[in-house]
Amino acid sequence: MTLHNHVNYGPRKIAIFNQKGGVSKSTTALCLAVSIANRDKKVLIVEKDQQANIRKVAGIEVQEGVTETLYELLHKEQKNADYNPMDAVVVNAIDGVDIMVTGPNFAEIDTEMVAKVGMVNAFKTLLEHDALSHYDYIIVDNPSHLGIVTMSSLTAVDKVVIPFDTTRWAFEGVDALLRTFTHVKRKFNKKLDIAGVFLVKVAENDSDRPKMIRKCTDIFGKYYIKSYVNYCKGFEHALKEDKTIYSYKSRQSGMQTNIERARRQYDSITTEIIKSFEGSEV
Ligand SMILES: Nc1ncnc2c1ncn2[C@@H]1O[C@H](COP(=O)(O)OP(=O)(O)OP(=O)(O)O)[C@@H](O)[C@H]1O
Ligand SMILES: [Mg+2]
Repeated sequence: MTLHNHVNYGPRKIAIFNQKGGVSKSTTALCLAVSIANRDKKVLIVEKDQQANIRKVAGIEVQEGVTETLYELLHKEQKNADYNPMDAVVVNAIDGVDIMVTGPNFAEIDTEMVAKVGMVNAFKTLLEHDALSHYDYIIVDNPSHLGIVTMSSLTAVDKVVIPFDTTRWAFEGVDALLRTFTHVKRKFNKKLDIAGVFLVKVAENDSDRPKMIRKCTDIFGKYYIKSYVNYCKGFEHALKEDKTIYSYKSRQSGMQTNIERARRQYDSITTEIIKSFEGSEV
């Protein structure tokens, strides 16, 4: 057995966090990753969700180009076996971004993790592996519940990014969300912080927007990012062609204008998220 050196410096690690389903978590993981990669940075997305939406957008078959998956790596880490996390990474999977694939049996990890809390730390140790230290950013997409999979992400990252939609029920789970954040911060990851909270899928002339902004500011204070993402059908259109909004081109000029606006919106949000790391020691 060889010793693998784990280091405590290297990539800035971000988890996309909100237990509500369909609030643009995976879309945000992708757009944030591509926007950062466009600034000449090396970015890895870790897709901790058996739905594997990001892998599918990238048009990757389950084990294409990889010999391992996150599921297998976590088991090896827990058994102190040798492994190389890059064996589960599809390099340049989409728009210059690398993706660590999850594996078809990832759904089982939730119950396994409940049985073995050591799995929570296994993910943290895995992300600190030397073989991932060349990344500038690691972005972890999460499933839409506050189970142990999400908790293990929060334990492993520096900051969370929270997208909120503008529906009436958007804030229903916010107490549970904050409780989970605080619990992980107190018990497992004292340095855990928020990189930013922002609104997504904002309808044109949405009369509820001022109310939502007030509520977000009340709850999240300085973490609320003023830039937001409008509702834009182009996201679905891009998805149908296995593309991100950064590489998709619409033939309809109105749609193309909206897609370009969505890119600018995600770029502004990304700038704020990058700024949140300035001065913090990671
Ligand atoms: N700004 C937007 N405008 C319109 N549609 C959007 C926008 N952002 C995301 N979508 C679409 O909404 C759907 C849900 O988005 P996404 O999969 O990113 O959410 P999620 O939070 O990851 O969902 P889940 O909880 O299932 O993981 C997708 O079909 C996506 O293309
Ligand atoms: Mg998702």
